[in-house]
Amino acid sequence: MRRWLGWTRSFYFRIAVTFVGFMVAAATPTTTSGATTTTASLAYNQDIKPILDSDCIVCHGARIHENSVRLDTYANVMRVVTAGNANSLLVRETRPGAAMYVNFSGDRASKSDQIRAWVVNNNAAESR
Ligand code: HEC
Repeated sequence: MRRWLGWTRSFYFRIAVTFVGFMVAAATPTTTSGATTTTASLAYNQDIKPILDSDCIVCHGARIHENSVRLDTYANVMRVVTAGNANSLLVRETRPGAAMYVNFSGDRASKSDQIRAWVVNNNAAESR
């Protein structure tokens, strides 16, 4: 009998826990339903600057700046970027097949994609 009582008690306890878990799970989508996109947003400071610093500023920094293009600060980068515009010079020069594409180290396609997405989809945001 005591065993039976213990079992029912834990059974109800589990139902209670499950119910609370369900309430939390049910509440979560409601609070995030306003979001329009699930893709992570890209920002200059967090995502783009590391790429430019490792692959581009040797030729586009303060000392050497080929074609007067400097990619060492956000303000300088924005001289070759129009937020939201896929025809920005930075996007055109870093597309697969374009002149600067070969300067990417490692995963070129992914870096090229990130730059384009940052300019076009994230309006060239400085930070997030
Ligand atoms: C080894 C040196 C070197 C590296 C590294 C380099 N560039 Fe360049 N870049 C140049 C030279 C030289 C030019 C000018 C000649 C040309 O347009 O091809 C130039 C031109 C540019 C231009 C301007 C093109 C125009 O039509 O005015 C952009 C934008 C650019 N580079 C972006 C980048 C990006 C982004 C990276 C990093 C992925 C990068 N560059 C890496 C040497 C380099």
